[in-house]
Amino acid sequence: MNPLHVADYAAAAKATLAGDVLGYLDGGSGAEWTLRENTAAYQRIRLRPRVLVDVEAVDTAVDLLGSSLTAPLGVAPMAYHRLVHPDGELATVAAAGAAGALFVASMFASTDLVRMADAATGPLWMQLYWLRDRGALLDLVGRAERAGYRALVLTVDAPKVARRLRDLRSGFTLPAHVSAVNLTSELMAPSHVAQAGVSAIERHSRERFDPTITWADLAWLRERTRLPLVLKGILTSADAWLAVEHGVDAVVVSNHGGRQLDGVPATVDVLAEVVDAVAGALPVLVDGGVRRGTDVLKALALGAATVLVGRPVLWGLAHSGAAGAEHVLTLLREELEEAMALCGRPTTADVDRSVLG
Ligand code: FNR
Ligand code: LAC
Repeated sequence: MNPLHVADYAAAAKATLAGDVLGYLDGGSGAEWTLRENTAAYQRIRLRPRVLVDVEAVDTAVDLLGSSLTAPLGVAPMAYHRLVHPDGELATVAAAGAAGALFVASMFASTDLVRMADAATGPLWMQLYWLRDRGALLDLVGRAERAGYRALVLTVDAPKVARRLRDLRSGFTLPAHVSAVNLTSELMAPSHVAQAGVSAIERHSRERFDPTITWADLAWLRERTRLPLVLKGILTSADAWLAVEHGVDAVVVSNHGGRQLDGVPATVDVLAEVVDAVAGALPVLVDGGVRRGTDVLKALALGAATVLVGRPVLWGLAHSGAAGAEHVLTLLREELEEAMALCGRPTTADVDRSVLG
């Protein structure tokens, strides 16, 4: 079957991936309420088109922290792309570049960061978890900086990986041939130790992530890099204000795709609160549950500077490597273009809250 929208890629992944990998990819934490809510919330938002506007030329381009993107789209940082396809991140980086989208590499990428940079034709950012081993953290930051990564994305919603029941049931463990090659094997060892009823990824995070860090620690990182700092995992105006106060360069409204604290709202439902709180002081990105071009339009209308897409890109990768991942991003861009035309908003600058209702 020829995939016509993102849901077709989701169905193909479900039919073909091994059970434990599918559970890790598609699953969320706890009762998976937030996971379901992320997509359901987009479906509750309605669009109000304006008519008799010249929409022959629709322009989806945006600027983000000094980079221009063909569309307000990026690949969210996701660990271990090689779990679903041997080409892994080399394919998804190439796909993002071809689609004119941002690529955010995970700290736990299964491909060397220099090789990712070599395969990139668009902007690349590097995501970090704050490790107890600050030397290892800084070493990675230095290598990313030298390889041409343009920003650091510190994920702040995961002092540890949450309990994800699908992973506990499968005893999810990384196979030996897929690993976080940008960190030492000693540092990553706990992710590869299988034990019934245990998620090795959760165990790894308990042993290696630093759960003591606070806002005061951000200065330590900022003093040691010249790269812009983006915080991923902001869900309240209070934390958005703190981000501005601490000189952060951008925030991502994210609940980690429903994989961390279950019970938090859908990201699209708190986006306006965060956008209003920062009042233009910094760009606000959003991720979680984006599956259609109309979802991207809704996020833009609420003030998102760019939308990051997670699972759909890996569904595309699993289906047909770089071509599938690129097709997923292209579909979203084309659907966005169509939605903008049918709403009478020919440029991203024309998209504001008046499109909602
Ligand atoms: C993630 N996510 C994630 N986030 C992060 O900051 N670092 C990481 O290493 C990972 N790893 C990861 C693996 C997998 C398999 C998934 C599905 C997700 C979260 C990711 O960046 C993003 O927040 C969500 O995936 C967005 O939701 P959607 O688009 O998947 O609904
Ligand atoms: C995840 C971690 C690794 O969401 O961020 O699986």
